[in-house]
Amino acid sequence: LPHLRQYEADTRVLLGAALESKHLEDAQFASSLQQHFGQLSFENELKWESVHPEPDRFDFSGPDKIVEFAQANQMELRGHTLVWHIQNPEWLLDAQWTRDSLLLALEQHIHSVVGRYKGKIKYWDVVNEAFDDQGGYRDTIWYQVIGPDYISKAFQYAHAADPEALLFYNDYSTEGMSPKANAVYRLVNELLDQGVPIHGVGTQAHFDGRYPLSRGPMAKNIERFRELGLTFHFTEVDVRIADSAGVSALDKQAEIYQELIEFALHYDNIDVMTMWGVSDKYSWIPSWFKGQGRALILDENFQSKPAFDAIAEQL
Ligand code: XIL
Repeated sequence: LPHLRQYEADTRVLLGAALESKHLEDAQFASSLQQHFGQLSFENELKWESVHPEPDRFDFSGPDKIVEFAQANQMELRGHTLVWHIQNPEWLLDAQWTRDSLLLALEQHIHSVVGRYKGKIKYWDVVNEAFDDQGGYRDTIWYQVIGPDYISKAFQYAHAADPEALLFYNDYSTEGMSPKANAVYRLVNELLDQGVPIHGVGTQAHFDGRYPLSRGPMAKNIERFRELGLTFHFTEVDVRIADSAGVSALDKQAEIYQELIEFALHYDNIDVMTMWGVSDKYSWIPSWFKGQGRALILDENFQSKPAFDAIAEQL
């Protein structure tokens, strides 16, 4: 298996992977990270319910392990995520908030979490999934209690906590020219006009391997963010396959991975492509999409799949 990290300096594109700290105890998992990935994302352990389980208590034990591993291996980090509508703790959902008290809680949360890793976490998904599929604001606790400016506030708090960090808005179904991508485009234009610190847009890129990518609309979308001076990252790539599908599905999957890495290599505003896991041994897909799996580039035994080979060939 060629080690994908060897191409990092020449291609200027970092390949990343999401993980939980417990996966580092699996030696094959850890060495796959060292061989192939220059960037790590926190799959769950920086979400509110995990890092902030009680109003006055934070749990940084898992994230600290990931930070330590990344530093030991010269890897960049992506913090995921500071504002989302799910994986929030009960205490947050149950409390009686006013606009001001929830803004204060948000500010304190961001100050604590971003501040702890100041200078260590380079990229932050500040706000995740704020829009619905039609491009309207999703009806979350943040939107209901604070209003739409919870988004600009969150970016300002994150910037105050670490002025060097690169701050992203992150969402799914925003790869091409969808209503949701249009909403994100409008939002970032507003934020830029208001002088809010935002540096990039992340698109999750959770794909279903049955459908080929719509390359034209994707190119158009990437280019319009590029024209705003914004970085575009693929932040959670996986390509799921039906359990019943034969091996030819793996070749179709490889084509999608290949097209994504081609986009990353082609556009100078894409410098990170992060997979939502490393091997099919650990992936959120089988439990969230019944009857589907095999979504990543290494199989359950950490052996290469056609998708891995397709990426290696492009680098
Ligand atoms: C997923 C994790 O992978 C699962 O382990 C967890 O149970 C649910 O969340 N979009 C996101 C990620 O932004 O945070 C989600 O991660 C996948 C979809």
